Amino acid sequence: MIFRQLLDSVSCTYTYLLAGRPGGEALIIDPVIEKVDRYLELLKELDLTLVKAIDTHVHADHITGIGALRDATHCVTVMGKESKVDMVSMRVDDGDKVEIENISLDVMYTPGHTDDSYCFALPDRVFTGDTLLIRGHREHGFPERRPHGRL
Ligand SMILES: [Fe+2]
Repeated sequence: MIFRQLLDSVSCTYTYLLAGRPGGEALIIDPVIEKVDRYLELLKELDLTLVKAIDTHVHADHITGIGALRDATHCVTVMGKESKVDMVSMRVDDGDKVEIENISLDVMYTPGHTDDSYCFALPDRVFTGDTLLIRGHREHGFPERRPHGRL
């Protein structure tokens, strides 16, 4: 499996790129809009086709890159069913799976940080987003400049 953890140092966001094999399908979790060109370069370097872009929840500390990635690659955009974001083309629920070639993520509904927070699990690792930051962004010092719901 190809597994890359990418840090946006401005928002301290970790983004994950996964693929089952070189030359195959890829998915990305929690992309940041300012880094979309870098993600596209990396996909090209690794000869990967982005087929799904996932947001674990609506973020207050950065603007999501899923819309820009969809525009650039025609990938499917994925969020939990609680999300009211209209750029989402696939809405998932607890117990669902998000699949690409050779990779299957188990979907877990984990509200607490926000009402739309989900985790995505492989057999040996879990992508938790901000799940451990309970009770949202405000109490963790994030400013109100990008409130929930605004992408
Ligand atoms: Fe968050």
